[in-house]
Amino acid sequence: MMTLAQMADAVLRTADGREKTALSHKYAAAWRSARADGSHPEIGTASPPDHPARPQAPELLSPRDVPHRKPGTPEGRIAMMHAVAHIELNAVDLHWDIIARFSHIDMPIGYYDDWVKAADEESKHFNLMCDCLEAAGSFYGALPAHAGMWQAATDTADDFMGRLAVVPMVLEARGLDVTPNMIRLFKQAKEGQAVEALEVIYAEEVHHVAYGSKWFHFLCGRHDLDPTPKFHALVRQYFHGQLKPPFNEEKRAEAGIPPDFYWPLAQST
Ligand SMILES: [Fe+2]
Ligand SMILES: [Fe+2]
Repeated sequence: MMTLAQMADAVLRTADGREKTALSHKYAAAWRSARADGSHPEIGTASPPDHPARPQAPELLSPRDVPHRKPGTPEGRIAMMHAVAHIELNAVDLHWDIIARFSHIDMPIGYYDDWVKAADEESKHFNLMCDCLEAAGSFYGALPAHAGMWQAATDTADDFMGRLAVVPMVLEARGLDVTPNMIRLFKQAKEGQAVEALEVIYAEEVHHVAYGSKWFHFLCGRHDLDPTPKFHALVRQYFHGQLKPPFNEEKRAEAGIPPDFYWPLAQST
């Protein structure tokens, strides 16, 4: 039987999106059924790759070289769905990476339940977006995508609390801020399949942010640290740039991120 860290490592080393997410789902199901039987695979340890395996396409470009398309056009909406698919694929890897990369640190079993579930949900999100793209006559890989998505993971490869602060509590929390507008845009365009997919993503992402906050606070407690200044210090160290208002204060609160966590890091407007 594979250890959980080996499963995480295997997902990270699978390049094709549909294959990566199928493997992710298979391992998550194995974890869940073992947990339901009152056991679980050993956590083990792994040496995950510095960068996860990625498909040949999409071509990865620096954000300033990715062409901007007007969101009010069908092409613009395809570009937006493509960008979301790219984020979701990266998120699958980020959730397995936090399991594999920090597997040498002793954590309660619920920590692994949370990230396995999150990884499984990201796998579903990627496939939902791919299905939307294909229904619109496109596919994941048809357009260029942002390079540098893995930067936050590289920057925090040796800092467990830094990883929790920057990935779920900053980057995924940002998703909560921007998704409602995206849903509105697809509603106006009467693209029901995309609306449904984005609503699933929006509902589930709240939990990923909450897992980040939960385990960040757990580690603050373990190391006797004051969470708010610790969070500010880590974000200033690892996140390049300031946080952008407007913030989704309601969903952030639901996810356990109070205003004094993010307002002091926001750009003045
Ligand atoms: Fe997602
Ligand atoms: Fe997520």
